[in-house]
Amino acid sequence: MNRYAAPEIAENVFAVGSIDWKRRVFDALAPTPLGTTYNCYLVKGGLKTALIDTVHLGYEAELSGKIDQILGSHAIDYVVMNHAEPDHAGSIPHILGQSPAVLLCSAKGAELAKAYYGIPAERIRVVKDGDVIDLGGRTLKFIGAPFLHWPETIFTYLIEDRILFSCDFFGAHNTTGLFDDEAEDVVSWAKKYYGEIMMPLAKMARMGMAKIKDLPVNLIAPSHGPIYRHPETILAEYAKWTNGETRAKVMVIYVSMYGTVERMVGTLVEGLLANGIEVRVLNLASSDIGEIAGQAVDARAVVLASPTVLNALHPLAQFAAMAIKTSKPPFKYGVIMNSYGWGKGAVKQGLEFFEEMGIELVDTVEVKGTPAADDFSRIGDVAGQLAAKILADGR
Ligand code: FEO
Repeated sequence: MNRYAAPEIAENVFAVGSIDWKRRVFDALAPTPLGTTYNCYLVKGGLKTALIDTVHLGYEAELSGKIDQILGSHAIDYVVMNHAEPDHAGSIPHILGQSPAVLLCSAKGAELAKAYYGIPAERIRVVKDGDVIDLGGRTLKFIGAPFLHWPETIFTYLIEDRILFSCDFFGAHNTTGLFDDEAEDVVSWAKKYYGEIMMPLAKMARMGMAKIKDLPVNLIAPSHGPIYRHPETILAEYAKWTNGETRAKVMVIYVSMYGTVERMVGTLVEGLLANGIEVRVLNLASSDIGEIAGQAVDARAVVLASPTVLNALHPLAQFAAMAIKTSKPPFKYGVIMNSYGWGKGAVKQGLEFFEEMGIELVDTVEVKGTPAADDFSRIGDVAGQLAAKILADGR
């Protein structure tokens, strides 16, 4: 029989989740080059035992093995469902089938537990914001945190140990270490995850942050990625991201079919760099949607550069614009650049995108055929204008 790794992260609190090394895409959209983790936690009190979240289906036997290893049985009294999405709740039917446990979740969670997993009402106890469960010397407190990520989401707080089990909030698709100080590039993976999952819900994320503002926290234990035993770092980053704080930074997304747009982008980027602006350049033919979401989190401006294809933006630029619109980044300013041969239409589409996003258009550059010296000179001027706008708001 396997001897599982189920580390004790605090006295009688065990990490019993799984690492999915093989997963390469999430939500059929966002790449996960390191795989991901489905973290869940077993809390043993003097009287009762609770499992906080479960794992993606396929890892349920591993979870059962870890529970047996720690308890010598499946004598779990409660399963807390912080979130109903299958990556965390998919193994709830398996665990409830092996134990007499009651499922604790929000009212909306009860509805989703029935809809997704067929959990009958008699196995569910609804908990409200502020409710507590005494495990015998250990107390779980439930904190309403809707839409982080789905409407039913809650946080669970272990009062005596000051551990916040936050599920997707503060998560990251990072498999490089159990704790934040053991893992690689902690903030950049968390930022990418924030951009993909939480940025569209920034208003709810601010409410979530307000809910935990005065909570003493020793550990933040999310359900993807490392556990934070230095929570101040991620809390400070989340404070900035959820408030839409930006830097003097431009995200340039472009498509180039014959190199014309790429040359235009090159000139603009040089101009921005010469003005001391941070730049991230993403070629949409080779960049993924996760990179765009992650870089957008704190960019003050966006440059959309595309050739005209069939009287519209190149399809990759259309897809990126649609994805950005969905993820609601905090861009304030923007520039559109376009190269066309005969038909127009791409700039019009770009302007509609900016208007819908509430992005202030600094300028457009539209070039017929091959750009001439005066086109490049104008692009240099546009870079200066954009830099001035950005810097007027500070660094
Ligand atoms: Fe990791 Fe919203 O599930």
